[in-house]
Amino acid sequence: MHPKRAAITGVGGFVPDYILTNKELETMVDTTDEWIFTRTGIRERRILKDPGKGASDMVVPAVLELLEKTSHTPADIDLLICATVTADRVFPDTANTVCDKIGAENAFGYDINAACSGFLFALYTGAQFVANGTYRKVVVAGVDKMSSILDYTDRATCVIFGDGAGAVLLEAADDDTGIRDAVLKGDGNGRHFLHMKAGGSVKPPTLDTVLAREHFVYQEGKTVFKYAVKGMVDTVTEVLSRNGLPPADVSWIVPHQANMRIITSVAEMLDFPMEKVMTNIERYGNTTAGTLPLCMWDYEKRLRKGDWIVLTAFGGGFTWGSLLLKWAYDG
Ligand code: UT7
Repeated sequence: MHPKRAAITGVGGFVPDYILTNKELETMVDTTDEWIFTRTGIRERRILKDPGKGASDMVVPAVLELLEKTSHTPADIDLLICATVTADRVFPDTANTVCDKIGAENAFGYDINAACSGFLFALYTGAQFVANGTYRKVVVAGVDKMSSILDYTDRATCVIFGDGAGAVLLEAADDDTGIRDAVLKGDGNGRHFLHMKAGGSVKPPTLDTVLAREHFVYQEGKTVFKYAVKGMVDTVTEVLSRNGLPPADVSWIVPHQANMRIITSVAEMLDFPMEKVMTNIERYGNTTAGTLPLCMWDYEKRLRKGDWIVLTAFGGGFTWGSLLLKWAYDG
């Protein structure tokens, strides 16, 4: 008898309608479509333009789609975990706002802030509650409205990111599918290379911080790039080897969508074919906590029950890791 495991039993997603193309960015900062595409693999990204709308407004449609696809109602949800660095507000959390907006009257929730690894960390957290029998139906969402923290005069950062949300349902598996293992890592020294300078308790917002443009993403891209490739390769290798799974048995790698050159470097170093690596960075850019569920949302139809899948991410913190699962249904 295998131990109880949490399995992903459905995926929902949402991206805003507005498409910000590389061509439009050419009119905003000193950049070119050619530079952006060759250096990052991005052609366009989605932007949530509607005034007064935030992260929860993207999670709501993603979760409603998820519930419809899996024949559930909002009242069925026990717990909703939301991974994000662009919560509706500094507090309260976004997860309980989503529960209120969809009428998930039996649920409680909370947010997890682990930047681009947020969905990975939230997924493994949610899986523990299902595996140990505490809760039966756990929704894990990854969302970011990166456009709310981007400096659209800084070409080094504003071309990379986009807005979007994805969500999965976790339920106990009654077979050998589900989440098997994860290698999750952190190194707080990485905070120097990727952060927002002001707005937190260290440097609360003032007129000066606003004028100094300190409420935007700050990134030392080259350093982050180097650590990202190594972090993802190391943890994919570790999670596979400690589960005795040869890379050839893996059907899909789902990598964080930060830069196509990072993704291809990871695949090359793992000697893993790109045809089995999920990518959608060309259309959505980097949606931070949204990338992993949005990839599964895009590729769901191609997934088969029993597929071995590895999710891997690297992001601010630094945070990184890889998670191994056996897919639970035919997409
Ligand atoms: O998701 C969270 C984790 N984040 C990541 O994993 C991101 C990791 N880093 C990256 O993806 C890349 O480092 C970037 C895409 C951010 C930057 O690419 P890069 O190849 O590392 O470029 P760079 O920063 O070294 O800049 C090279 C040149 C510079 O010009 P000079 O100094 O050589 O004259 C930049 O000023 O490219 C210039 N540049 C641009 N040129 C046109 C930087 N951004 C742009 C731009 N358009 N948008």
